[in-house]
Amino acid sequence: MKKYIIQGGVPLRGEITVPGAKNAATKELVACLLADDVVTLENVPDIGDVEVTMEMLKSLGAKVKYTNGTAVVDARKLKTSKVVEAQHRKNRIPILLLGPLLHRFGKATIPALGGCLIGARPVNFHLQALEKMGVEISCTKDGYTAKAKIMKGAVIDLPFPSVGATENIMLAAVMAQGTTIIKNAAVEPEIVDLASMLQAMGAIINLEVNRTWVIQGVSSLKGTTHRVIPDRIVAASFLTAGALTGGDVFVKDARQIDLLAFLNAMRKADIPFKILKDGIRVTAPKKIKPIVLETDVHPGFMTDWQQPFVLALTQAEGVSIVHETVYEDRFGYTKALQEMGANIQLHCECLGGKTCRYAGKGYRHSAIVVGPTPLKSAKIEIPDLRAGFSYIIAALIADGESTITGVGHIERGYEDVIGRLKSLGAKIEVK
Ligand code: EPU
Repeated sequence: MKKYIIQGGVPLRGEITVPGAKNAATKELVACLLADDVVTLENVPDIGDVEVTMEMLKSLGAKVKYTNGTAVVDARKLKTSKVVEAQHRKNRIPILLLGPLLHRFGKATIPALGGCLIGARPVNFHLQALEKMGVEISCTKDGYTAKAKIMKGAVIDLPFPSVGATENIMLAAVMAQGTTIIKNAAVEPEIVDLASMLQAMGAIINLEVNRTWVIQGVSSLKGTTHRVIPDRIVAASFLTAGALTGGDVFVKDARQIDLLAFLNAMRKADIPFKILKDGIRVTAPKKIKPIVLETDVHPGFMTDWQQPFVLALTQAEGVSIVHETVYEDRFGYTKALQEMGANIQLHCECLGGKTCRYAGKGYRHSAIVVGPTPLKSAKIEIPDLRAGFSYIIAALIADGESTITGVGHIERGYEDVIGRLKSLGAKIEVK
């Protein structure tokens, strides 16, 4: 089993460049299926989830060439509307193929979804929305089968601003008959990037006030060249690692506009950073201040920044509170951190501010973090992607040698994590 061996105690110093965003690139690869010509995507990260998505497109008959971060997708001729079993439970992308495949074939079959185990992760909003647009869907134990002669525009009011559901509706709506209005929609930068790509392909799509997307269906979409935005989760991960190791790291291509909420949390915690022309530089904090933090949909503090930031709070002087409001079960990873010496207690109450939809449901979705606690080296297994990077930071600041297994999770989402860390001076080996 592949593992990372990390020696703690080395400050990270130097510069890394942020790769393209996993959560934009994978969706934009799917959007290529809507074009009646070749689409070129630049700044596509070389990660497991991109590879799985490209394999999925190839299994449908698309031609996909990937060289040095550029993916050229020719989906003019597809041979099937059925995503093969080999893609079963590999990630959450197949559900997004429903719209494009229905446009191409009038029917679609996709396998059951995978992805990180951070909650139940239902797809009811996706299915209800597509049904409203005229799609008949049946769920089987192996996945979903859908059919629709035509998809019609509809007014969809999402119960929660789900990223995946918003993208799914968008991919169906751009070529549906009539206008689709998505209310209470997600407006994450990755979704705005997807919308920009679709517009360049010929879609009529607008983001209006109050989280509302308005999409007027068109009859065809053409090819385009689109550059994927930098990954704001990778950026935040490396900024945290630089600060916590007491180092000095310039994260090139980190975009302030996508990191506003993260940088506000850094500032409140007294972690020094500087906005430069083409990136963000972080330096060693003198003393980290405890803070109250609540995760939220964009423009709030991302749930995917929570894991590295909790680690920062284990090093803060005092009591911090973290309230996770996006997923009901995203603190499982803290058990291993506690074994390394962190003082983190989980609670079912909504601590720290607002009452969220998990109130009174018995989910341990709030954490009290008491710091500062030195961390001991350990042998730890990564449970999910974002927890994975927080374990890497924990090992980088721990006393001695740590062994991390389950690294497949990390490699699904972080391009060349070892190369980047080594270039900053980390003592990390792969075995
Ligand atoms: N939800 C429902 N029903 C639905 C859809 C969502 O109840 O039909 C709930 C979910 O269970 C969750 C919440 O709504 O509690 C938010 O889920 P969302 O649909 O927004 O998440 P997602 O699209 O499955 C994406 C990212 C996640 C990221 C979330 C939130 C991808 C591939 N995944 O997931 O990223 O945490 O949005 O920003 O884009 C990661 O990259 O490691 C990762 C987990």
